[in-house]
Amino acid sequence: MKTAAPPAHSKILILDFGSQYTQVIARRIRECQVYSEIVRFDIPADEVAALKPKGIVLSGGPASVYDERAPQLDPKIFSLGIPVLGICYGMQLMAHHLGGQVEFSERREYGAGMLHVKNGSQLFDGIGEQIDIWSSHGDKVTAMPAGFRSAAHTENSAFAAIEDPTRKLYGLQFHPEVAHTPRGKEILQNFVFHICGCAMDWTMGSFLDEACARVRKQVGDQKVVLGLSGGVDSSVTAALLRKAIGDQLTCIFVNNGLLRSREEEMVQRVFGENFHIRLKYVDAAERFLKALEGVTDPETKRKIIGKEFVKVFEQATEELLAEDKANGSGGHGGYHFLAQGTLYPDVIESVAIGGNPAQVIKSHHNVGGLPEKMNFELVEPVRQLFKDEVRQAGLQLGLPKEIVHRQPFPGPGLAVRILGEVTPERLRILRDADTIVTSEMEAADWYYRVWQSFAVLLPVRSVGVMGDQRTYEYTIALRIVESQDGMTADWVRLPYELLARISSRVINEVKGVNRVCYDISSKPPSTIEWE
Ligand code: XMP
Repeated sequence: MKTAAPPAHSKILILDFGSQYTQVIARRIRECQVYSEIVRFDIPADEVAALKPKGIVLSGGPASVYDERAPQLDPKIFSLGIPVLGICYGMQLMAHHLGGQVEFSERREYGAGMLHVKNGSQLFDGIGEQIDIWSSHGDKVTAMPAGFRSAAHTENSAFAAIEDPTRKLYGLQFHPEVAHTPRGKEILQNFVFHICGCAMDWTMGSFLDEACARVRKQVGDQKVVLGLSGGVDSSVTAALLRKAIGDQLTCIFVNNGLLRSREEEMVQRVFGENFHIRLKYVDAAERFLKALEGVTDPETKRKIIGKEFVKVFEQATEELLAEDKANGSGGHGGYHFLAQGTLYPDVIESVAIGGNPAQVIKSHHNVGGLPEKMNFELVEPVRQLFKDEVRQAGLQLGLPKEIVHRQPFPGPGLAVRILGEVTPERLRILRDADTIVTSEMEAADWYYRVWQSFAVLLPVRSVGVMGDQRTYEYTIALRIVESQDGMTADWVRLPYELLARISSRVINEVKGVNRVCYDISSKPPSTIEWE
C-alpha cells in the first residue's frame, strides 16, 4: 500500500534513540510552529542530508554509549553542517563520537535540579543565570571533545550543557522537553529559531492547504471510500477529504449494534446533513449480535467483530459500485482509494531499545484493519499529526466540539463493556446507564476534563430492596479515568455529589440494575476497559 509524501517545510529531524520523551520533543517543536519529524537513530547521513532539515535533535535513550548493543548513529551526521542538539544520551553519544569522554557516574542524577548558566551561549539566550531542570541519567560527560566549551553546570556535573558554536553542535545533559524543566521550551526555541534559522511555517491553516493539495494530487479524479466511525480521527479525515475532493468522497458508517445511544443519528446529522458528505449507512446490528451469540471471551469478541466489520465493509463497497453504475457515475473503475485516520504516533517506527513497551501493547487496538487483499491504495491525510493537532484541524474544518473533543470509544464498542455474553437486553441496560453517565458528566462540566467516563455492565447480580420488594439484579461499574494517551491512567477523584447523582439515577432509571460501584484502579496494573 502506498502513501503520500511529506511536505516541504522548515524542518527539524529528531533521531530516536528509544527515549520515552521522543514524541514530546516533536510536539514541543511543533508547538513553536516548526515542523518536526521523528526518524530511526540509524538513518544514514546522506538520507538526512536529502531530507534537508534545518536542524537535528538526538533524543535521549535508556542505553549507555558503552553498551555492546547501544544504538549508534552515523557520525558523518556531525559534519553535514546542520546544527545538532543532543539531549541526554544524544549528548553523550555526540561527546563519545567527537573524541570526548563519557563515564559511568557515581551519583545518578534523577529528578529535579538547578542549572547554572554561563554567559554568552545562544542556546540560553534570555534565560537568565539559573533555571530548574529535570534530568534522568547515569552516565555523564567528563571531558568535552576538542572545540567544545561548557555552557552550563549543575552541582553534580561541570558539563550539564556543552557547545561548539562554530560547528553548531550542542548538548544538554537534562531534558528540556519535559514539563519539569519549565523554561525548556525557550531553550528549544533558541535552538530552532536562532541556531537553526527555522521559520514559523507549521500552522494548521498551512497544513490543511497542503494536505488538501496532496490528497488531490494522489487521487486525481478517482473515488475514495472512508470507514467513518464517528471517532475524532475518522471524522477529521472525512471533513478534510470533503474539503479536498468534494463529491469524490463516500463514507461508510457501519452500525454494528454496539454503539452508544443515538450515535448513528448524530453521525448522520453531522456528516450527511451538515457536511453534505455522501454517507452510506449500513445497519448491520442484527448480524453482529447473531455472530456474538453465546460468546463470552473478550478476545474472541474482538476477533468476531473485526471479521464481521470487514465483510460488511466489503459488501457495502460493492453496493456502492452497483449504485454508481445504476446512476451512471461509475466511470472510474471502482473504489481504488481507502482513506484512514491514521495518526503520527501510529506511524513512528518504534525503537525498542531497553523497551518502550507502550508501543507494543497498543498494537491490538488498531482493529478494523481492512485486509491487504482488498487492494486499496491508502489515503492518510492526517498521518503527520498528533492527537491534539488533529483536534485543532477538526475545529478549523468546522466540526462541532461534540465530535472534536469526544472521548475515545473502542472499536468493538459496548461489547467489551458487557462482561459475559452480549444480548439485546444487556445492551439496553448498558446503553441506558451509559447515557446517564455521559449526560451527568456533561452537566457537571466534567465530561471534557477526563480521558474517559463510562459504565460497565458486570455479570454479577446481587440482592437489593425497592419499596417492599426484594430485588436481584445487575451491577454497573463506573470507570472514569484521567490519562495523557491511554497508556497509563488513574481514576478520577470525582466529587461525591456527582457520583451520588449518577448512582441514584442509574439505579432508579435503568431497569435491571440495583447497584453501582466506582472503579478505583489505576492503569497499570488494571486496564481502562474491563475486557
Ligand atoms: P485499555 O483497556 O487497554 O485501553 O487500558 C486503552 C485505550 O484503548 C481503548 N481500547 C480500544 N480501542 N479497540 C479500540 O479501538 C479496542 O479493542 C480497544 N480496547 C481498548 C480504550 O477505550 C482506552 O482508551
